[in-house]
Amino acid sequence: MHRTPTSLITALLILLLLPIVASAVNKPQPRIIGGQSTSSSAWPSATALQIRLPSSNTERFCAGNLIAPQWILTAAHCFYDIATNQQTVYAGDVTAYPGIDDLRQLSPERGKTVVNIYIHPQFSGVNSYDFDFALLELAYPENQPVAALASSTPDPGEIATVIGWGVTAVNPATQQPIHNSLAEQLQEVDVPVIDNSQCQSAMGSGITDNMICAGYPQGGKDACNGDSGGPMLVYRNHHFIQVGIVSFGIGCAQPGRYGVYARLTSALPWIHDLVPQAQIDAATVAERKLTPPTTNGEATPTPQAPATALKGDEGGAFTPRQGGGAFGLPMLLLLGGLLVWSRKLQRVA
Ligand code: ARG
Repeated sequence: MHRTPTSLITALLILLLLPIVASAVNKPQPRIIGGQSTSSSAWPSATALQIRLPSSNTERFCAGNLIAPQWILTAAHCFYDIATNQQTVYAGDVTAYPGIDDLRQLSPERGKTVVNIYIHPQFSGVNSYDFDFALLELAYPENQPVAALASSTPDPGEIATVIGWGVTAVNPATQQPIHNSLAEQLQEVDVPVIDNSQCQSAMGSGITDNMICAGYPQGGKDACNGDSGGPMLVYRNHHFIQVGIVSFGIGCAQPGRYGVYARLTSALPWIHDLVPQAQIDAATVAERKLTPPTTNGEATPTPQAPATALKGDEGGAFTPRQGGGAFGLPMLLLLGGLLVWSRKLQRVA
């Protein structure tokens, strides 16, 4: 048959493409749920928080953001016991690592002493997570660049960037975060801000005006356990400024659920009282030097089961962006060549 050469070429093309497609699928498997690796030079104010839980002699991991040389902004619930709804963690139990990007660098020499933990006076505990704000005072000022805070709240639809070292994978069968999957390398993910009334329909009436929700209706990209306290930022006037703090979720990256963040504008007067030198909307050097987030970021849908409530557990997962880089230039040239060749054959046939 005349068509034989063409189908031969097609088969050849498929054979050639298979390994490439397979490697593209396997390659960037979830780090931060739906995110990508980043670095401390991109986010120099990002701070890792190692928290010793005195009652159980275990550790909890949270994140924070350096907003003044001696001050870290984080989430209040990191210092609370979920069972008793009491503050159980105090300054001596916390070691801060400002400007770190890889958790393998958490050596005692790099750890900074925290002298005070301030919990927002309206924080209503881990049952509601309202006003989930805390400020940590360091013993000594840091040299790291600090982050600026936004004076206004992000609009629904605006793309926000979230960074952290939290859980990077959920168990596909149970949809539970895999707790030993904390990222080593700092992760970042872009998620759209969701209108609060839409968020209430998805997450319940516990969503207050002091919270921001973000995520894709189809899930796939989110913060997760271990990301708590980390910053949510928006890109405005060529700078990333902080608008929120990772607070809680129901599972992670599930369809029909959103990540919940403490809304920074609700805490600005309190922050200003304690840290008058905090920069508002200011151009700082503490910003990602990479490209700004895309506005049409596609979610990475992961197979999801019915939601299992996991409100406020420690640890967070980001999802890596889809890596699309499997097609190298040589491969494209080869494919192009093959197509031209197959067309020639077709014409001949
Ligand atoms: N409460 C979690 C923490 O302590 C953060 C959970 C965020 N979850 C989410 N699905 N966005 O680390």
